[in-house]
Amino acid sequence: MKRAILAALGLATSLAVPAAAEGIKVGLLLPFSGVYASLGNEIETGFNLGLEQFGAETGVTFEVVREDTEVKPPVALGKAKKLILQDQVDVMVGIVSSGVLGAVRDMVHGASVPLIVANAGNDEATGASCSPFITRMSFSNGQINRPMGTWMAEKGIKKVFTLAPDYAAGRQMIDAFTETFTAAGGEIVGQEFTPFQKTQDFGPYLAQAKASGADAVYVFYAGGEAISFVKQYDSFGLKAELPLYGSGFLTSPLYVNAQGEAAEGVITALHYAPTIDSEANGVFVAAFTEETGRAPSEFAVQGYDAARALIEATKTGANDRASLANALRQVSFDGPRGKLAIDPATNNIIQPVYVYETVAGEGGLTQKILAQLPAEADPVNGCEMAPVSN
Ligand code: PHB
Repeated sequence: MKRAILAALGLATSLAVPAAAEGIKVGLLLPFSGVYASLGNEIETGFNLGLEQFGAETGVTFEVVREDTEVKPPVALGKAKKLILQDQVDVMVGIVSSGVLGAVRDMVHGASVPLIVANAGNDEATGASCSPFITRMSFSNGQINRPMGTWMAEKGIKKVFTLAPDYAAGRQMIDAFTETFTAAGGEIVGQEFTPFQKTQDFGPYLAQAKASGADAVYVFYAGGEAISFVKQYDSFGLKAELPLYGSGFLTSPLYVNAQGEAAEGVITALHYAPTIDSEANGVFVAAFTEETGRAPSEFAVQGYDAARALIEATKTGANDRASLANALRQVSFDGPRGKLAIDPATNNIIQPVYVYETVAGEGGLTQKILAQLPAEADPVNGCEMAPVSN
């Protein structure tokens, strides 16, 4: 399905912007089915809102072609190929799963097509497998989880049991947490990886956590798996005895109300919460709430900022694959999550990380920010960034 979004018709001549390109064709590659379908839909909503809100700053017309990855790496690879070769898109936006990002990386790099990553945190895509064509406007798996290891150890937590789905994101998030938690004197007393997209009953793993002697449990789950995990954790009676921590996707505003009371008191870290008190976030929350009737999640802001980054790139006159790739790497702005910039050494985003607790609020569950941790660039992790010639 194609959807044309016309931005700022007629404004181009009155603004001091370089000559507008005829139009930019965007391939939106997201899961619209499978365990991360709601994440894909949320990123798309944020992306369209960003185009509407910032489109007036450029004279460019955007045409969007959307494709469903189904959260399946081989399907996603076929869809990426179609967008690149058949639709001849100028830029791709999206990708939710680290596994899918790993699968399409070589095709994107080999075809020299810029990709704005709007979710997938795969550390390698901005590490050893980095590419001047891959720019991340979301987060990296290490970036979100490293600060939480140190923070929890500082809070006096000594023994932790970890759980995550068995695929790249789960492994990388838990590794990053483990590294800083143990460096700060903590001990991992047990670790399990659950079959991704296949685990319905977390009971056996929860029994292991209970018997492990841990003071707390630290997990990564997202989407449908996060909803069932948090509910089962509570109904298993573990919450009172073993506090639950994790990366903030666990209790995303996108599905926290489906978790209900089970999510109350869970403490997590993330690069965004709709309760961030800033002018840019206020504008975003108001616009998103007006459109959807609910607060935006981290997935929404990633789509919104991906659109803004694309618009910033076109404002420099970039209008083809190579010039867009170069311009995207230089984007920086003050957005809903705070000041963000792209690290030229890796093309990963640099942004603050927030620790938040899910608490009962007036209109349902909400996010109480406990700490804002400083923005840090990821380690280069073997990235050797090659230049792009325009
Ligand atoms: C990932 O696979 O990188 C991933 C998926 C869902 C999230 C976060 C990371 O919420």
